[in-house]
Amino acid sequence: NFTPSSFVEDIVAEMKAKIGNDKVVLGLSGGVDSTVAAVLLNKAIGKNLYCIFVNNGLLRKNEFENVLKQYEGMGLNVKGVDSSERFLSELAGIDDPETKRKTIGRVFIEVFDDEAHKIEDVKFLAQGTIYPDVIESVSVKGPSATIKSHHNVGGLPDFMKLQIVEPLRMLFKDEVRRVGKTLGIDDELLGRHPFPGPGLSIRILGDITPEKVRILQEVDYIFIQGLKDHGLYDKVWQAGAILLPVNSVGVMGDERTYEKVVALRAVESTDGMTADWVHLPYDFLMKISNEIINKVKGVNRVVYDISSKPPATIEWE
Ligand code: XMP
Repeated sequence: NFTPSSFVEDIVAEMKAKIGNDKVVLGLSGGVDSTVAAVLLNKAIGKNLYCIFVNNGLLRKNEFENVLKQYEGMGLNVKGVDSSERFLSELAGIDDPETKRKTIGRVFIEVFDDEAHKIEDVKFLAQGTIYPDVIESVSVKGPSATIKSHHNVGGLPDFMKLQIVEPLRMLFKDEVRRVGKTLGIDDELLGRHPFPGPGLSIRILGDITPEKVRILQEVDYIFIQGLKDHGLYDKVWQAGAILLPVNSVGVMGDERTYEKVVALRAVESTDGMTADWVHLPYDFLMKISNEIINKVKGVNRVVYDISSKPPATIEWE
């Protein structure tokens, strides 16, 4: 039977013994797993844990600044690296979903490798890998898979030569959350919806521009904040907005407009493998739709995705 407090005690002792006085580098994502892994390691080795939090320019609105502050408040030795411009310029003109994922994976590895080099004598790479990641070995998605495919190609980035530590590799998601709670991590952080590594890039159908990122960040913010304000956020497994690559006709005063369409998606799920669309209340959808159309310049139509998985995946790309 799993007890979070004894798990913490055991794993901290194990990490101390394994790592000793050596240095560890860890990439934080803002998600539950990497955060819990970091707090555990911080407990075990303190300032010898070097956390790196990369802004790929595709995070939610204000996310980089807010989460970085949260991490600092938790006493983590964390460095925020804003590489937004580099990611967005490498992504310019790419509209194929898998090429977007590969590009983001590659640039992330380059940025992370540069940063890891700045830490003298680092010996270990820590990862927030959890049990389902370990068994899901043939997935084509996700950062670990990106690293794997890179691995197969040969020319390894230097940090790949580090020894790996994965304090959560035997845990399921709900156990990770319980460990996080025992460690005193904020409920808000532990209750976060999953968010894909490639971020908003796979929710901007077609090619990515800074203007599209701005529009989608605004729309997503209104939707997510609305869910929180109406007590719906915790009833939904994952939610987000998608910017469609079409314009639609609208009217504003006497003028016709020809502007962007956004889709809202909210799903119920246990593991992301299957998912049902959530029957959000009509009055909530009405309010959010009005707010988006009134506040976000460039959007004149909002639709709600009423498709379940299978066959419709949670993401549109
Ligand atoms: P799909 O769209 O396949 O998504 O139904 C299932 C879950 O996986 C997330 N997802 C990703 N996560 N990198 C990630 O780290 C990816 O490339 C990726 N694609 C999808 C998605 O957000 C959902 O939670």
